Amino acid sequence: MQCISKGNRLTDHKTLRSLPLSEAITISAQAVGEVMSGRSLTEVLDQLEPHERPIVQSLTFDALRKWVRSHELIKQFIPKPPPVEVDHLLSVAIALFLQGTSDGKGYAAHTIVDQAVQACEQYDKTLYAKGLVNAVLRKVSLIVNPPEGEVRYPPDPIPMFFPPWWRANLKRNYPKSWQGLQIAQAQRAPLIVRVNTRQYTRDQYQELLNDANIAATPIEEVAGVKLNSALLLRDPVPVIDLPGFYSGAVSVQDSGAQVAATLLNPQPGEKILDACAAPGGKTAHLLELADCEMLALELDGGRLGKITGNLDRLRLSSENVRVVRGDASKAAWWDGQLFDKILLDAPCSASGIVSRHPDIPFLRREADIRTLQHKQREIMAQAWKMLKPEGLLLYVTCSVFPEEGEDQAQWFATEHANAVRLSSPGQILPTEANDGFYYALFKKNGS
Ligand SMILES: C[S@@+](CC[C@H](N)C(=O)[O-])C[C@H]1O[C@@H](n2cnc3c(N)ncnc32)[C@H](O)[C@@H]1O
Repeated sequence: MQCISKGNRLTDHKTLRSLPLSEAITISAQAVGEVMSGRSLTEVLDQLEPHERPIVQSLTFDALRKWVRSHELIKQFIPKPPPVEVDHLLSVAIALFLQGTSDGKGYAAHTIVDQAVQACEQYDKTLYAKGLVNAVLRKVSLIVNPPEGEVRYPPDPIPMFFPPWWRANLKRNYPKSWQGLQIAQAQRAPLIVRVNTRQYTRDQYQELLNDANIAATPIEEVAGVKLNSALLLRDPVPVIDLPGFYSGAVSVQDSGAQVAATLLNPQPGEKILDACAAPGGKTAHLLELADCEMLALELDGGRLGKITGNLDRLRLSSENVRVVRGDASKAAWWDGQLFDKILLDAPCSASGIVSRHPDIPFLRREADIRTLQHKQREIMAQAWKMLKPEGLLLYVTCSVFPEEGEDQAQWFATEHANAVRLSSPGQILPTEANDGFYYALFKKNGS
């Protein structure tokens, strides 16, 4: 990772064989700073060296997930807000204490304090960071792990930050479950994989996992849709430890996302458009299910390589699969041939996948929802013109806001007299076992 904070002494992580905790805290605190200045965490993490990524990702995710709780504690012990770099470092270190208590594992308290204080070396002496961090963490340690017989810090049901407009939206639309939704989204997301059924059945792959001492259980269905390739791993492992990962046996994909290709039910020879394709998870799943003629469209040229990379790894690239850069809300890239089926996995707030992307609540603005809604309608209207009569269009978002889900499906059905709504799950809410998605399936009536 490049130096991203002033006074950073870390210039060459490549030389480190493994990452000491103090280094990981330093990089994570910088990554938190990047998110606070509006940058996507995925982009920041993509800059890391492979050996840095697992621990830095884990620490940064936890810091963002525990933001509200860690800042209550910081406020309790430092009445005046600390310098912003120190605040970020404390949020990482405090999350280590909090996470440690929730899963029973974790670092010893003295190790966290010691390593966080070491991480302060990077700061200008005038910030007095060492003393401050040492004092605060020692107090936090006593609160989180109190001496025998003393009262524990009362658990805050929602340790994660959600902006007020977001909470108001959930409360309005899910008056009974809005708090539960936020609690589910503040959890560490489980690792779920999709078996490439061109190479193995789910049972066969589960046996391979078993042989590698990786415990997994099948996820049979999500929202009434039967899945035949989803496996839930009991403990997360790096992808390199998944048997056959590099020869395309398996991909990491949430079970809620595996509903898309299953619902669209591709058949050999069908002409299918994946209108918003990168990084290609759903394109690949469609191709695993049938030899269809696939056009994977993506607006962001920088993300095209992710689609081809995934297809190559999964051994799915062929002359029947085209990966094209283009804007799905326009027809400039289109050769005029109609599609049998269209998957429209639209750009959205990503409010349903917060447990995998805890930076989202920090990055989204309320005004984004209206802009996204407008774009989604443009893409839907354009895609409909490219669909054969009797063809199917599957509209998908990974959002929990009805503005990007049911409202859009209703608008579409009203605007398009030849659209027949078929049975589909509609809103799938996030749980500890799946992310939140919205699905609406339409058939085009007429000859
Ligand atoms: C939700 S993601 C798609 C995820 C993908 N279907 C998968 O399962 O791996 C939405 C994608 O749409 C792309 N996108 C945004 N606006 C677009 C447009 N107007 N035309 C085509 N792609 C667009 C984004 O760059 C992003 O890669």
